[in-house]
Amino acid sequence: MSEMRLAEKIGQLVMVTAGTPVTGPVAAGDPTSGVRDGRIGSLLNLWGTEATAAMQAIAVGESRLGIPLFFGFDVVHGHRTVFPIPLGEAAAFDPDLWEATARTAAEEAAADGIDLTFAPMIDVARDPRWGRMAEGPGEDPLVASRMAAAKVRGFQGTSLADPRSVAATAKHFVAYGAPAAGRDYATVDLSERTLREVYLPPFAAAVRAGAAAVMPAFNIAGVPMTAHVPLLRDWLRGELGFEGVLVSDYNAVGELRTHGVAADLAEAAALALTAGIDIDMMSPAYEQGLPEALDRGLVTLADIDAAVRRVLALKERLGLFDAPTRRQQARGTGVPSARRERAREAARRSIVLLKNDGGILPLPRTIGRIAVVGPLAEARADMLGPWWGAGDRTTPVTVIEGLRAALPDAVIAPVTTDPDAAADPTAPDLRTADLVVLCLGETAAMSGEAASRADPGLPDGQRALADAVLASGRPVVVLLSSGRPLIAPWLFNTFPCVLAAWFLGHQAGHAIADVLTGHADATGRLPVTWPRAVGQIPIHAGDRPSGRPASPDDPYTSRYLDVSVAPQFPFGHGLSFAEIAIAGVEVGDPDGLAGGPYTFRAGDAVDIRVRLENRGGRGGEETVFLFLRDPVASVARPQLELKDFARIGLAPGDRGVLRFRLAADAFAFPGPDLAPRTEPGDFEICVGRSADPDGLIRTRVRLTA
Ligand code: GLC
Repeated sequence: MSEMRLAEKIGQLVMVTAGTPVTGPVAAGDPTSGVRDGRIGSLLNLWGTEATAAMQAIAVGESRLGIPLFFGFDVVHGHRTVFPIPLGEAAAFDPDLWEATARTAAEEAAADGIDLTFAPMIDVARDPRWGRMAEGPGEDPLVASRMAAAKVRGFQGTSLADPRSVAATAKHFVAYGAPAAGRDYATVDLSERTLREVYLPPFAAAVRAGAAAVMPAFNIAGVPMTAHVPLLRDWLRGELGFEGVLVSDYNAVGELRTHGVAADLAEAAALALTAGIDIDMMSPAYEQGLPEALDRGLVTLADIDAAVRRVLALKERLGLFDAPTRRQQARGTGVPSARRERAREAARRSIVLLKNDGGILPLPRTIGRIAVVGPLAEARADMLGPWWGAGDRTTPVTVIEGLRAALPDAVIAPVTTDPDAAADPTAPDLRTADLVVLCLGETAAMSGEAASRADPGLPDGQRALADAVLASGRPVVVLLSSGRPLIAPWLFNTFPCVLAAWFLGHQAGHAIADVLTGHADATGRLPVTWPRAVGQIPIHAGDRPSGRPASPDDPYTSRYLDVSVAPQFPFGHGLSFAEIAIAGVEVGDPDGLAGGPYTFRAGDAVDIRVRLENRGGRGGEETVFLFLRDPVASVARPQLELKDFARIGLAPGDRGVLRFRLAADAFAFPGPDLAPRTEPGDFEICVGRSADPDGLIRTRVRLTA
């Protein structure tokens, strides 16, 4: 530090993009001279052993002080082996799986010279109009918190100096998932209470898990997150004790001018640095604005030094001072077939069977002719979703390829419904097929960043196609590829068998075929509530009660004249081929001798036993959700608060028990003054296979003073 000139100090705070893809509005340039002059401290979007090693050699060998770069990239759900989009993987409700796929991604990214990933994206999202729901954990703060911790563990391993580990960046701090009208980059306006109950907990989990970096969101009401002192400096660094690096989002520091809170680059730079932003990603603010801000007394050299120290400390933790190309040399990416199998397993576990009326699935082995129809039937690149990282977009397995591999004796062919198209006489068509697989949904470009949709339904033309297939009278299985719940009540009212297939990654086709043929059970459960209409948004399981809860019998209640208030499918919904049921729930004393509500004292934990049994003829697994309801408190509590979830596998006829332990702090909530508090009184422990109120087993317990 003492040897560093001001320009070199500021250089450590500058990150620019090198190579493609550029993920923001500012065009890229050649960073080589900036690296050589020590005016750039890190790069994004450059990967590959040779390319990163060559750039590092310039930084270390040709710059005056030889400070190594670090390389960042959006390894969001896989690097070369692409896994399901996070919203899909969330449907597995399996932290071990979430950690394992992040670990594989880290190993592949590190082998390509990546030191830091801009992931996990842990923005709770309850608005399917927002395209970035695809990248995140869904609607629930607990699921987001568990996924945050699992992904940080997976990416970072036990040491950042491990050449197979990459630094994790928890993003986008905070509440990016609640933009006005579901429109990306739009303002976010919500209460301090909702921030503390819903949007901050996942970041607390990520920081507690050791996340090396955090990326602020673009937006929040009035004070853009990149300049938000109360949340960045006072809560994140102060209250939570985060000591890592804050890296801005792409050009976000420069955009403080566009937000209207900075008159020029010097003011923008000063606002961001004062809030604690260490690295300015792809904006000219720090490089051009900080020297002037210093001259104008808007910042001090101590402010700059503090940021530089945190960036250098990260590089030290990454082991880059000892061995600047340690990751490029490690090349520890495991066995390709093992990675493919992990991708296939993750994809299988992401699929949600929404409807299976009449038990069309699993397909019989003897099935002869399958007609595969629709825009996603042979889609390949789209299977990788909106953040494909370094994934080869020419190699994903299509739906047709997966079906052919799984059913080698069947005739499986794409079929057009274009009456003028020359039909292949040998191919099954809509009249002769034993089954039609109708592949509908979004393309990857309709999902992810800058992909908000005001009407997130099936794209144009797909309804006509669906009607044509329906008119054939053949049995139909509908596959929905998407980065969000697609609002299409007509589809769910008409078709008996529908699966949510998200964007499943490289092994999409094989995973889909595994489930359609019953080789694997459908075990995914919805991590988001599926709306019936856009007008219901935001809709989620954790809504607060109204003083006039919707009632079909009373007009003066919280309901619509034209649409039911019930979702299309509730949080946690998903069908399976196995028939595993909840046989009973015991709370507190296992013998149920209390005779009244189980009573416990502040500070006590509460044990819950859930007994399940497999009543069908095939093995499988079930996911059980444990919600808490606090009917009376000093602040109105959500109708359901998810406090735990777990999965259990059972063979046919088997019985099993899932044990949950609710620690005392599970009963705490932000009181009227927003400080955490626990209040004596009755609670309901609600156990079920989804948030469907009719499917919950409710047990009253009493917390005494
Ligand atoms: C994008 C995204 C952010 C990403 C960054 C770098 O604008 O908002 O999630 O990590 O730029 O690509």
